[in-house]
Amino acid sequence: MPALVLVGAQWGDEGKGKATDQLGGQVDYVVKFNGGNNAGHTVVIGDETYALHLLPSGILSPGCTPVIGNGVVVDLSVLFEEIDALEARGVSCAKLVLSADAHLIASYNRTLDRVAERFLGNRRIGTTGRGIGPTYADKMNRIGIRVQDLFDEGILRLKVEGALELKNQVLVKVYNRKAVEVDAVVEELLSYVDRVRPMVADTSLLLNAALDRGETVLLEGGQATLLDVDHGTYPFVTSSSATAGGACTGSGIGPRRVDKVIAVVKAYTTRVGEGPFPTELRDADGEALRAAGHEYGTTTGRPRRCGWYDSVIARYAARVNGVTDFVLTKLDVLTGWERIPVCVAYEVGGRRFDEMPVSQSDFHHAVPVYEHLDGWDEDITAARTFDDLPKTAQAYVQALEQLSGAPFASIGVGPDREQTLELRSLLP
Ligand code: GDP
Ligand code: IMO
Ligand code: MG
Repeated sequence: MPALVLVGAQWGDEGKGKATDQLGGQVDYVVKFNGGNNAGHTVVIGDETYALHLLPSGILSPGCTPVIGNGVVVDLSVLFEEIDALEARGVSCAKLVLSADAHLIASYNRTLDRVAERFLGNRRIGTTGRGIGPTYADKMNRIGIRVQDLFDEGILRLKVEGALELKNQVLVKVYNRKAVEVDAVVEELLSYVDRVRPMVADTSLLLNAALDRGETVLLEGGQATLLDVDHGTYPFVTSSSATAGGACTGSGIGPRRVDKVIAVVKAYTTRVGEGPFPTELRDADGEALRAAGHEYGTTTGRPRRCGWYDSVIARYAARVNGVTDFVLTKLDVLTGWERIPVCVAYEVGGRRFDEMPVSQSDFHHAVPVYEHLDGWDEDITAARTFDDLPKTAQAYVQALEQLSGAPFASIGVGPDREQTLELRSLLP
């Protein structure tokens, strides 16, 4: 049995949480491999709505073991808040496993994330302010604090001292903030030791052993292709590898074990934070999409920027992730438009681009070339098969599939688990 990777195709919030939750009942492990509590995944099960940040969406499937992989950055206070809130609602988190190699978000990195954004002014990224960027920077800089450091107080103190030697200079001299005390940081981190200890494991060993036994592992990406630090719209990206390649480094599974790469793509496009967005609608149409799709951030509550489907982005996501299947979401949100524009290419300074321009400046100036497809008026939220859809909605989906570079496996017509049209099975 295989490992499956699930990633976002656009700028996040495609509905990865719902897709992961749907597969959760059929897989043995769900592994979060990148990001941290910058993510916000909403999962709707009947009358219950869950907003997950740090926990893998598989936490809602009782048969499945949720794993936080080594590629994740963990804010322990958020982790236990999230666990306590779920347990209070009757969701057991007892099976959660946490990688000994995952990095911890220390309080000074939350502070630095926020003050750095303020300092950047109009060059800001629009981060979630959760300390994600500075924590990954520390990891690359080799001054990070890892989960396993909690179990050796001497080492922990040495590492915090080392990090703060640099950080305090920056906090005080660059940002005019107070220095942080080593003792306070060490004490806070140590206060979690007893709760963390039973969760911690060598998750690479655990997952590879599960695959050897023939069990199924789903690797769930946070953020999305265009927020990936290598393949996204740099510098307007997050600081981790959100594409399929990150699933291997972020979990300790070799690429030959990955059987399928599933990308979740919205029937239109949204983005939170700053950065280029060719099909963005800065008018009443954009507001209409935001209202119909309830496009407000799950993590920060910020209104999401909205625009039409961009097939250049979908083809790019298909390429850099090696997508085998797309999961199309939120088709129902498009109900009511007479004609729906779909971006098929860009024009930059009189030149046509059928693929993503290599230069960031060209992407900033890309003007979408649109094809206009017929819309539909019928409520499609009760559709359960492709044939239940109006003919024009079927044609819209087929046109998107033709343009996007990989087959569509399912179509979302509402937030509930049940509101999905399955076209082909995602599991072998
Ligand atoms: P994620 O970050 O990719 O997991 O996505 P979010 O949870 O941040 O945002 C997706 C939102 O769309 C959530 O509120 C989901 O409940 C909702 N959603 C997912 N699929 C569908 C769908 O097919 N139709 C509608 N109307 N809502 C959906
Ligand atoms: P999910 O998993 C949408 C965006 C932020 C900002 C940029 C960098 O729910 O799809 P960061 O705090 O990561 O340093 O911010 O990335 N961003 C997301 N946008 N969905 C997310 O996660 C995001 N996680 C980060 O808005 O533009
Ligand atoms: Mg989200």
